[in-house]
Amino acid sequence: MGLSGRDLLSVGDLSSEELVGLLARAEELKRGSEPGTPLARRSIALIFLRPSNRTRVSFEAAIARLGGHPIALFDREIEMGRRESVGDVGRILDGFVDGLVARIPSERDLRGLARAMRSPVINAMTDLGHPCQILADCLTVQEQLGHLAGARVTFVGDGNNVCNSWIEASQVAGIDLRVVTPAGYEPAPAVLQAAAQLRGVGGRVVVTNDLGEGLAGTDVIYTDVWTSMGQEEQHEDRRQDFGPYQVNERVLERAPEGTRVMHCLPAHRGEEITDAVIDGPQSIVFEQAENRYWLQLALLAEIFGSAGAEG
Ligand code: CP
Ligand code: NVA
Repeated sequence: MGLSGRDLLSVGDLSSEELVGLLARAEELKRGSEPGTPLARRSIALIFLRPSNRTRVSFEAAIARLGGHPIALFDREIEMGRRESVGDVGRILDGFVDGLVARIPSERDLRGLARAMRSPVINAMTDLGHPCQILADCLTVQEQLGHLAGARVTFVGDGNNVCNSWIEASQVAGIDLRVVTPAGYEPAPAVLQAAAQLRGVGGRVVVTNDLGEGLAGTDVIYTDVWTSMGQEEQHEDRRQDFGPYQVNERVLERAPEGTRVMHCLPAHRGEEITDAVIDGPQSIVFEQAENRYWLQLALLAEIFGSAGAEG
């Protein structure tokens, strides 16, 4: 497989075959296969300009498991774009570390960092995408349904970062994706157009404001917060606009029996999802969260293994 030494900035950076291979590697590692220590004597920087529990901890743990040394950097320390330019941060880090994991609001800044660095850069979420989340979610869907291609996933929520990465995954993996949003919160047309150009087996993406249309025949209901990081001042407006789209027990009753419920977390319980659903028998949310570790362990092993571990 050819991920060695490469960046992972979006789901669309992977071909269909590479995605299949990555998920297979994650499944092997989860079953107990030995990943070795391709990161021995290597350091990976992690820039987190926004809060994180799952992403940072699972990446740090996976880096340590592969023999590497994680170095977490926060805004208060590097003040990227204020204390020094994005390009200078990248050039300097490149001299010290062997790779970078970055959670940065601006996709433009992430790509600027990737251009400034020769070492691999992994997107740990921007306002435009959350590829590592959705790659791990693909692993969870495959585990639960026994297949990924042809899976019917209904995303209910805001057409932003998490949704955008699902749209790309639909094209790469052949997922039948329905995106249900309130009017005015649909994914950007440019995201849908760009995804349609990706190499991949091709999936179907339907965008609708009609929850009933989204629920018909689905395998998975997936939701995310109504108010993303950085949108806190819009919280009240969003609570009003998204209210009819809450994933609650009445919604589950309208979906096919056995529909699984997923959420990238953190959950705003009582807003986009109720306690009864997230803690109920159809929820696979906590298995989903654990898979962040296995997928990222596989991703790091592929990027930093073989040729990526030379020098
Ligand atoms: N799902 C996710 O990315 O969680 P964190 O924000 O806690 O990393
Ligand atoms: N859409 C959410 C995802 C959190 C993992 C956010 O950007 O805050």
